[in-house]
Amino acid sequence: MASVSVYTIVEYVRFVDSTHHQRSTDDPSIDWWRQAVVYQIYVRSFADGNGDGIGDIAGMTSRLDHLQRLGVDAVWVNPWYRSPLLDGGYDVADYREINEQFGTTAEAERFIADAGARGIRTIVDLVPNHTSWEHPWFRAALAADPASPERSRYHFLDGRGASGELPPNDWRSVFGGPAWTRVDDGQWYLHLFDESQPDLNWDHTDVPDEFDSVMRFWLDRGACGFRIDVAHALVKAPGYPDAGRESNDGRATLDPVPYFDRDGLHEIVRRWRRVLDEYDDRMMVAEAWVAAERRPLYLRADEYHQAFDFDLLSAPWNAAEFETIIATSVASAGAVGSDPTWVLSNHDVVRHATRYGLPTDIEPGLWLLDGPHDALDVARGLRRARAAAMITLALPGSTYVYQGDELGLPEAWELPLDVLQDPVWHDSGHTVKGRDGCRVPIPWEPDGPSFGFGSGPGWLPQPSEFGPLAASNQENDPDSTLSLYQSALAYRRSRLVGENDFDLLDLGRGVLAFDRGEHFRCIANMGDDTIPLPDGEVVLTSAPLDDDGIPADTAVWVTR
Ligand code: GLC
Repeated sequence: MASVSVYTIVEYVRFVDSTHHQRSTDDPSIDWWRQAVVYQIYVRSFADGNGDGIGDIAGMTSRLDHLQRLGVDAVWVNPWYRSPLLDGGYDVADYREINEQFGTTAEAERFIADAGARGIRTIVDLVPNHTSWEHPWFRAALAADPASPERSRYHFLDGRGASGELPPNDWRSVFGGPAWTRVDDGQWYLHLFDESQPDLNWDHTDVPDEFDSVMRFWLDRGACGFRIDVAHALVKAPGYPDAGRESNDGRATLDPVPYFDRDGLHEIVRRWRRVLDEYDDRMMVAEAWVAAERRPLYLRADEYHQAFDFDLLSAPWNAAEFETIIATSVASAGAVGSDPTWVLSNHDVVRHATRYGLPTDIEPGLWLLDGPHDALDVARGLRRARAAAMITLALPGSTYVYQGDELGLPEAWELPLDVLQDPVWHDSGHTVKGRDGCRVPIPWEPDGPSFGFGSGPGWLPQPSEFGPLAASNQENDPDSTLSLYQSALAYRRSRLVGENDFDLLDLGRGVLAFDRGEHFRCIANMGDDTIPLPDGEVVLTSAPLDDDGIPADTAVWVTR
């Protein structure tokens, strides 16, 4: 059987939409975020408008056509605030000013308005667990006395040992090493991440007051909501008890520890929700690395609207595992009146086109990947990534697409050590390369000094494989990954959004299948052998079909 032309589908859906179908995402009776496709922009690596090698707001604005053609409902912009960029902007020095390398606050406002004029909302990233060490509050804390009010906005403690020479407890930074750094007068401050990111003390009234004000600042400028960074941190156990564990270096832990997923943090979330509810139509999504059974707590009616589902992102390419995760997430989000929030990749993990190209007995970890690896099957990784996109885009709920997913970009895992900028590389004592491999500037054109990212080289070198994957190469190729995404988004928007019935089907081992309503079925062959194609009309396939049916690592959308 020949593959279906995805281009035809896009044209068809656009035609139907332009004639008599209202877009369901425009239906005011449906909360827009519940089934939105949100595109994640990692500002430094998206598009460089001024040729300094660093992505910026001018570049973002220049690529709005791409986002509109892709058909996304919203963008989530990684932190764009003033920052020394020691953790890529998650070290904020001023929550109301834009980093001068990215542009100005006025430009950010214009971007929000320009994107909005094209029907694309803007979610901004809020980092409430810690500031940069360049934040005026932290500078004031360092300049003040140990018992001062300035210090109590952070977690400053005396050390242990005869002269306080040992850290106050055994907590470890997520990036590696102790979570405490000592200052000149002998006290220690807490940083669950890099030492340049001191943790804020949410028991100090200045902190919640300030974040209420920062939220209003961006909501007043048109932001449609917030992605809340490390939403599972914020509150630490009283008395700072030892965690009693060797280390959590290398990733946020799901085991109970005295500094993650504390019940007290929900009071803070409810306070934020009251601020959001002063405005129409706004939302917030939690980056909460918590066990699946704890996630609904974050999704209660007076808390977050969404929480990322990292279980799917952490799962191997396996139908049974996907099915269990999907069933759990749909049920548990539904039980608290929310919807699942699917993610395959983001700026913190190895890109899924590479994860899925490794044999299942190799555990790539989320940011521990080292290369080159002979066992990587690049073609298989991309084939599965395309099928995975069709799975997540057909599921009920919202889907987040990381920039470059729509191009099928692989991880750049052969970056030379001397270009690495992720603090994980330094903090792990040069044992973990970190996350730069998924943050390499994305290719817009097949050639040029940075494949159209900017007029000169980008801040991280791009692998040569990025050239052929450039957006302009894929734009008019009906078989490209970009066309697949465009078609899938167009069909989803027109036919799937607003469809509430969802049923997982048992079509045998290695097959993930589900219905949305009476007429739509998604079938993903995640096993090794070709499986039969069901009756009905094929509306989209992630790869050409066989004469016998659906080949391995292929997803199909069928209507009946
Ligand atoms: C989140 C961000 C990550 C950052 C960390 C500390 O996990 O996604 O990029 O390094 O928080 O802010």
